[in-house]
Amino acid sequence: MKLGVNIDHVATLRQARGTVYPDPLDAAIICARAGAHGITAHLREDRRHIQDDDIYRLKELQPLPLNLEMANVESIVEIALSVKPAEVCIVPEKRQELTTEGGLDVLGHFEALKDTVECLSDAGIEVSMFVDADIETMVACKDLGAPTVELHTGSYCDAEPNERAILLEQLIKTADHAHELGLKVNAGHGINMENLGGILCIPNIDTLNIGHSIICRSVFEGLEGAVAEMLEGMQDYEG
Ligand code: PXP
Repeated sequence: MKLGVNIDHVATLRQARGTVYPDPLDAAIICARAGAHGITAHLREDRRHIQDDDIYRLKELQPLPLNLEMANVESIVEIALSVKPAEVCIVPEKRQELTTEGGLDVLGHFEALKDTVECLSDAGIEVSMFVDADIETMVACKDLGAPTVELHTGSYCDAEPNERAILLEQLIKTADHAHELGLKVNAGHGINMENLGGILCIPNIDTLNIGHSIICRSVFEGLEGAVAEMLEGMQDYEG
């Protein structure tokens, strides 16, 4: 199973102060050095974290395949066609949400999605649909011609421990069915070290896309060194 690291929240820190650092490109290079298999970035319509220029630089200047998450809107599809990332993951997007809530309504937006899948696929981009664990939706993704689905693990990951078994069962059944249909199956959203054990029970997973928990963890992994470095810099003070 492969790991795609979502580096959106490195850009969140940068946008919070309008600085040029921390640069998601530097983060991607560190992820590659650490053994990650891919980089994911979500170019949201409101540009709250990742910016257009980040996407071009992430495609050209770091070694891992880029998975561009995006809503099915014309202006972003145009950017995808110009950047040509290895993969595009189509996600639903609402302006006010904190993060992607729920999977795509594939049946409800079938015709619009079909056109986008076709034009991205024709450009040689692997197209993935971010979807809830639901068998009918897997069939619709197959009918769309999308080669890949990303199962939304958020409901499972955010659930109370006593509600998790049924949600995990749904993910397992859906992953099996998607695999039988010949779809490549990825999974992501809300995965952290505490809930990873359950996620590992889902069969046929090609890639886990994980962002927030890794970037949060890296703050504490690096904080001691960052304080020590600042203290060392302050040694030169002569009063
Ligand atoms: N996959 C998709 C399609 C997402 O929208 C996100 C969040 O941007 C992730 C994976 C990563 O989720 P998290 O940041 O909770 O690990």
